[in-house]
Parts: sequence; structure tokens; C-alpha cells
Amino acid sequence: MEPARLSRSARALPVLDSDEARSVALAQRFRALTLFAESPDAAKAARDMARTTFRDWGLHSLVDDARSVVSELVGNAVQHTVPDECLAKPGAPRRIDVAFRCWPKWTFIEVTDEDSSPPLLPMGEVFSPALVGDLPEAVLPDSGRGLRMVQSLVDALWWAPGEQGGKTVVCRFDLGSERLGDGTHERGE
Ligand SMILES: Nc1ncnc2c1ncn2[C@@H]1O[C@H](COP(=O)(O)OP(=O)(O)OP(=O)(O)O)[C@@H](O)[C@H]1O
Ligand SMILES: [Mg+2]
Repeated sequence: MEPARLSRSARALPVLDSDEARSVALAQRFRALTLFAESPDAAKAARDMARTTFRDWGLHSLVDDARSVVSELVGNAVQHTVPDECLAKPGAPRRIDVAFRCWPKWTFIEVTDEDSSPPLLPMGEVFSPALVGDLPEAVLPDSGRGLRMVQSLVDALWWAPGEQGGKTVVCRFDLGSERLGDGTHERGE
């Protein structure tokens, strides 16, 4: 079998449209956390908040996915962002805002950073995503997997530019009764 060849070309995630933006803004339940990229435990704080929030909202079967997703998105904000000139303050830490919003039918996780450059999804892979799970690790690239992992866990993933600069990466979980378990499927701590 030939090793996977990944194209260097990439496409940006879809941008939030105004209808989705309105529905996100009207969310019924909301929690938020501000982190700083220079803090060594930023991703852990986000994971802990995801666990508490999803449990409190009865989304037990999504706790592990939510923790993985927020960990990756905060990790990306730590690793890849350079604040826009208008937001950059010399010597100041880079700000990351994490928000959780819940509606009866959807839950959103949003991670906002100060860099308006978009997250990129690799494209042009030789193998279909359905096959990737069966391939040996050695033929897959060492980086550029995070957003692909997030996409596989959520129902939608996109980003929206901030009005004053920066951006927000948003993912949506669609809530059906089959997804709302009683907590027996959560992984261990
Ligand atoms: N918050 C962000 N701000 C700016 N660019 C981003 C952000 N998140 C991701 N990117 C860009 O999108 C690319 C793909 O992100 P992805 O998380 O899939 O891979 P990675 O972070 O490079 O590697 P991995 O997650 O596998 O360790 C990144 O390499 C980076 O160029
Ligand atoms: Mg990543």
C-alpha cells in the first residue's frame, strides 16, 4: 500500500453565517471562561470547565467529546496565534475566551482568540476519512490532525471573524435523546 500523500494546499473552515450567529447569540444557557495562552494549564482549565458544564447540563454522553474538542481548540489558540496588530499589547499575555452555550437542540463550544488568520483544514488526502482509522499511524502525518479529530466528534465546525479583530472557532453538537446518556459512558478522569 502506498503511503498517504497529503496536499500542502488547505482550505479555511466555513465562516459563520448571520442566521447561525443570531441563534448562537440567543442561547439559553451560557458559561464562559477567559484564559491566557502563556498559562501552562490553559487547556486543562478548559477541559475541566467543559466537564463541569456538560455534566451540569445533563449532557453526560458528550462530556468526553467536549473535553477533547475544547482541549484541541485551546491548544491551537496557544500554539498558532499571533495577535492582530490592533489587539496586540506589548508584553501582555494572549487572551483566549472559551464559551459554552446550550439550546434544547444544540450545544456550542466557542474558542475566541486575538488572531484573525483562519484555522486550516488539510485537503487533498489520498485516503477517504472513513479509511483513516484503518491505516497504520506511520503513514499519517504527525501534525494537522487536530481539526480533523474535532470534525469527527462534532456535528459542525466553523469560524467567524471578530468585529474588532481576532476570531472565534465554533463547534456544534446536535442533541438528540440518543446522545443524552446518564453518565455511564463517560471515560475515567
Ligand atoms: N486558532 C488558530 N489560529 C490560527 N491558525 C490556526 C488555529 N487553529 C489552527 N490553525 C491552523 O490550522 C492548521 C491545522 O490545525 P490542526 O489543529 O488540524 O493541526 P495542528 O495544530 O497543526 O497539529 P495537531 O493538532 O495535529 O497537533 C494549523 O497548523 C494552523 O496553521
Ligand atoms: Mg491542533
